[in-house]
Amino acid sequence: MTTEEFTRGRHYLMCPPDYFEVSYSINPWMDTDVAVNEQSAHEQWRGLVESIREVGGLVEQIPPVPQLPDMVFVANGGIISGDLFLPAAMRHPERQGETPHLQAWFEEFGCKVLDPPAGVQEGAGDALAFGDVLVAGYGIRSERAAYDDIVARTGWQILPVRLVDPRLYHVDIAFCPLDDRQALVAPDAFDHEGRRALADLVPDPVLLTMEEALAFSANSIVVGHVVVMPACSARLEAELRRRGFEVVVRPVGEFLKAGGGVRCLTLVLDTVLSTGVGGHD
Ligand code: ARG
Repeated sequence: MTTEEFTRGRHYLMCPPDYFEVSYSINPWMDTDVAVNEQSAHEQWRGLVESIREVGGLVEQIPPVPQLPDMVFVANGGIISGDLFLPAAMRHPERQGETPHLQAWFEEFGCKVLDPPAGVQEGAGDALAFGDVLVAGYGIRSERAAYDDIVARTGWQILPVRLVDPRLYHVDIAFCPLDDRQALVAPDAFDHEGRRALADLVPDPVLLTMEEALAFSANSIVVGHVVVMPACSARLEAELRRRGFEVVVRPVGEFLKAGGGVRCLTLVLDTVLSTGVGGHD
């Protein structure tokens, strides 16, 4: 990985929470009896946009669509590499209506839009680049077979890891790359093999306690050397600072009611995935 690539992760897509609510339950965090406070959802969302801009990031917006309350969690929209957009194949019918809107937006944005994968795959929510490898979650929402199809069609280097805790149901709730050597890892989210694969892949991990993981601390984004997080324990903050990162905490409690944090609310636009043929293409 070259220095130039560390400047990636500055350009984000987000979707305003105009229609956000908890009207169905597709993960253990979602309780339809719990009301979302519309005003604070908007404030928290706007606060996140501001934080990203303050630390040098750029935010694009996709218009929200009525009756698609989870469209705010745009991380699940698809996987991006350069000017390629691979739309998600969502597990739940409640979210499947988001895909055509994302496809249209990315076409307009100038991307080549691929066919969705054969098999469930929930976008960047279940696929995060670490160095040359796309760490890809399966077992709860995405399906392992989807990654075989993606590899066959794109040549991307993919490391599928099985998720085992329904509360940590997407890989972006359990894993957060910090640079090409370091990442936040919630080991309890993965099966034995996945834990081992991540230990081999990440030379210098920051291991999260279950409490930190359940506070969605891994559901963070990294803009330059700033980690924008929904929550951060004192010991985690000290550890990140010791490693040279700055920490910005952006509480997004309204969105946690639907099982999403900072990372889920964003989709990184400036990523290029390695095809493993002579390094990066
Ligand atoms: N309610 C949404 C769902 O269950 C939350 C999505 C969280 N997104 C994420 N990237 N982890 O689909």
